[in-house]
Formats: sequence, C-alpha cells, structure tokens
Amino acid sequence: MTTALDVRGLSAGVDGKQILEGLDLVVPLGQMHALMGPNGSGKSTLCHVLTGKAGYVVSGEALLEGKELLSLEVDERARLGLLQSFQYPTEVPGVALREFLLEAAEERGISEAEARDRIEREAARFDVTRFLDRAINNDLSGGEMKRSEIFQMAVLRPRVALLDEIDSGLDIDAVKQVAQAVEEMRSPDLGVLMITHYNRILRYVTPDRIHVMIGGRIVDSGGAELAEELEAGGYKAIRERLGLVETSSEPARRPADFFTDTPFDV
Ligand SMILES: Nc1ncnc2c1ncn2[C@@H]1O[C@H](COP(=O)(O)OP(=O)(O)OP(=O)(O)O)[C@@H](O)[C@H]1O
Ligand SMILES: [Mg+2]
Repeated sequence: MTTALDVRGLSAGVDGKQILEGLDLVVPLGQMHALMGPNGSGKSTLCHVLTGKAGYVVSGEALLEGKELLSLEVDERARLGLLQSFQYPTEVPGVALREFLLEAAEERGISEAEARDRIEREAARFDVTRFLDRAINNDLSGGEMKRSEIFQMAVLRPRVALLDEIDSGLDIDAVKQVAQAVEEMRSPDLGVLMITHYNRILRYVTPDRIHVMIGGRIVDSGGAELAEELEAGGYKAIRERLGLVETSSEPARRPADFFTDTPFDV
C-alpha cells in the first residue's frame, strides 16, 4: 500500500498559540479519509500547514508519496500534487477561472492542449461552463463555489486532496451532488482527506477511515462506528471514553448542535 500522505509528529503554532500538538496521520493512495473534530481543534490549520501557508512555526514531518513537504515552497508542494479546497473560498478579482486553471496546469507539467481538453470536459460534467470566463468565485453561491472547487480538482488531478468542509453551507441536494463528485474522483492515484462536521455527507461518501481530532492531535481513528458514536454522544462521549480533559477553548458540543443542517461556522 503506497502512502499518499504521511504526517508524523506534526506540531504548529501561530502568533504564540500552539495549535497542532504532535499529530500523526496516514492516508494511503486510493483511499478517502474523513477528518472530524470540534471547532477550533486545528483541522483547517493542518491543511494550511501542509500546503505551506506562511506564518506558522512548524516542526515534525509530512511526506507526500515519501517526499518531505515541509521544507518546500507552496508552488513546489502543488507541483508534487498537493491540492487544497478551502473552507471559505475567496474571490480572486481579475483572474478568470479558465486562465487560473491553465496556469495551474502548466505549473503541474500538464500540456496546454491536455489542460484545455480537461477544462471543457470536466466543466460540462460539473456544470460550471458558465463560470469559466468569470473571475474566480465572483458572485457564486456557496454551492457553486464548492462545485467549482471539485471541478478544479478534476482538471488538475492532485495526488493528495485536502477538502476542507466542502459540505458546509450547502443545501441537501448540493451536498449530495458534491459528495457524488468526490466519490467519482476516487482513483488509485489519489489520497483524499475530507474534513467535515456532518454525518450527512457520509451518507453519500464512504470514507475508508474516519479520524477524530481534538486539541491538535488525532485522538481516535476507525470506521463508520466512530461517526455513529459521534452522532449519538458528540465529542463529549469520545472524550469520556478516551479519558480526555476538556479545555475551556474547546467547548463540548451537544449532540443536538452537532448534526443540525445549519452549519455553525459559515
Ligand atoms: N493567526 C492565528 N492567531 C491565533 N490563533 C489562531 C490563528 N489562526 C488560527 N488560530 C486558532 O487556532 C485554533 C484552530 O483553528 P482552525 O481554524 O484550525 O480550527 P478548525 O478545526 O478548522 O475549526 P472549524 O471546525 O471551526 O473550522 C482556533 O482556536 C483558532 O482561533
Ligand atoms: Mg476549519
């Protein structure tokens, strides 16, 4: 089993605050893993640190198909095949989606002809053709933005995809559509880490493994039963089972809050 992503003892802090505390995580190629955790546990930070966002003090190791990532520049990590979709996608004024993708494809060594061909094909598949010549994410609804991000992935074909809350802010039909698109992206050449708060996306996507992150570490990993435990008892149940002490910066969430269809962080 080849490892897409292998994170070992990863710690990271920013502005004097320690966020990741010796995190270990392995995602094999061909697999899709879900990452769940309370607000503020460090899930987005993990994505930022892996993609090379500036400002973090980082230690530990992160390997993409065996190659050390942490010493590389952002664009070098992208060239190795790392791609992140954002919890809060931003608008990029003045850069059309098509131009952005052609440039990103060139950076990744994809020929222009191949890139143009993929753009047309995948845009039709994800119904984003009308966004291609508009500035990135300009005036798109939440659901359209998330679909556009999955489309970008289908064109660029990363080796490791970090999907940060692709389901937040989506209506039920859009969750299903995006989840199916993620399932369709499954490939022996891709490892996916999908961050989510909601079991509902797990109705349409079947992760090979679910990880629970609390306080900047993976505290438990397992199968569907872990998501069921969370649905029934929230993170409180997991903390109690593992004997973890709750800290004031991470309030426990009641199960009733948990699986509401109203995202609390959009
Ligand atoms: N620049 C910063 N300075 C200080 N603290 C920060 C900074 N960036 C993030 N944090 C803190 O780090 C913690 C982890 O944030 P992060 O965004 O990784 O959480 P998350 O698990 O993605 O949460 P959510 O589920 O709400 O998206 C939070 O307490 C956040 O306030
Ligand atoms: Mg987050």
